[in-house]
Amino acid sequence: MTDTSITTTNLTNPTIDVMNSHVSVRSFTDEPVSDEMIDTILDAARRAPTSSNWQTYSIIVVRDQETKKRLAELAGGQRHIEQSQVFLAFAADLHRLGIAASIHGVKPARGLEHTLTPVVDAAIVGEAAQIAAESFGLGAVMVGGMRREAAEVAEVLELPEQVFVVYGMSVGWPANDPRADGLKPRLPERLVVHRDSYSDENARAMIEEYNRELAEFYDRQGRNTDASSAWTGPLARGSVNLRYATLRAALDDMGFRFD
Ligand SMILES: Cc1cc2nc3c(=O)[nH]c(=O)nc-3n(C[C@H](O)[C@H](O)[C@H](O)COP(=O)(O)O)c2cc1C
Repeated sequence: MTDTSITTTNLTNPTIDVMNSHVSVRSFTDEPVSDEMIDTILDAARRAPTSSNWQTYSIIVVRDQETKKRLAELAGGQRHIEQSQVFLAFAADLHRLGIAASIHGVKPARGLEHTLTPVVDAAIVGEAAQIAAESFGLGAVMVGGMRREAAEVAEVLELPEQVFVVYGMSVGWPANDPRADGLKPRLPERLVVHRDSYSDENARAMIEEYNRELAEFYDRQGRNTDASSAWTGPLARGSVNLRYATLRAALDDMGFRFD
């Protein structure tokens, strides 16, 4: 199913169709996902561009049930991690950069840009993996909850210094039709795509309209939501405090710098 609410043109192709059918899947069957399929997905994802070709990411492929169970707990009790056939942890990795630089007797500097670079690389390769997985009909959901207890996650996955999991991804065969109620609406194009220069004209009205659209979507799922706050309500409540209060200290300890 293509999301007609976000397509603004009729032009399409199989890649565009896969992308326009995206939905996060959090419930999986017991059907195995072969190593060959995961390897194919990750081979394709690894074609993703990276900053200066530094390739400052690592992917930890987790199939061990106990490890998935522990990661599910650390993510705040996200059951789909345990239920997934494969859990992929996308890590920002400066450790390998250090090894490469040591060949020339130098150490990479630590600072904000060298923290953002691997985070962006990890984000890009993970999205590529999600598209590749969905192109096989697999379901997947990204798990930012990996940053909730970043130090413990690093311990469980035996990560060296200067490697942390930016987010993970539960992967498996969808247990039910994840598109049965349609796809989660997106903000209107005019609100997020700016032509030549930024504009927030009518932003508030468009956001209020999006509240109503999202409430209709949740209604179809049997979740009764207030049409005046379906999007903005949880966002307002969830954004007043920083999520993952221990993250900054944990990343500092792991060798990532923010100055
Ligand atoms: C970086 C990132 C982290 C996410 N973390 C979680 C998570 O921890 N748990 C979860 O259930 N969904 C998570 N999601 C999925 C989003 O909730 C989902 O993409 C969003 O609600 C839009 O829904 P859709 O993907 O079904 O269209 C995450 C998505 C992204 C991009």
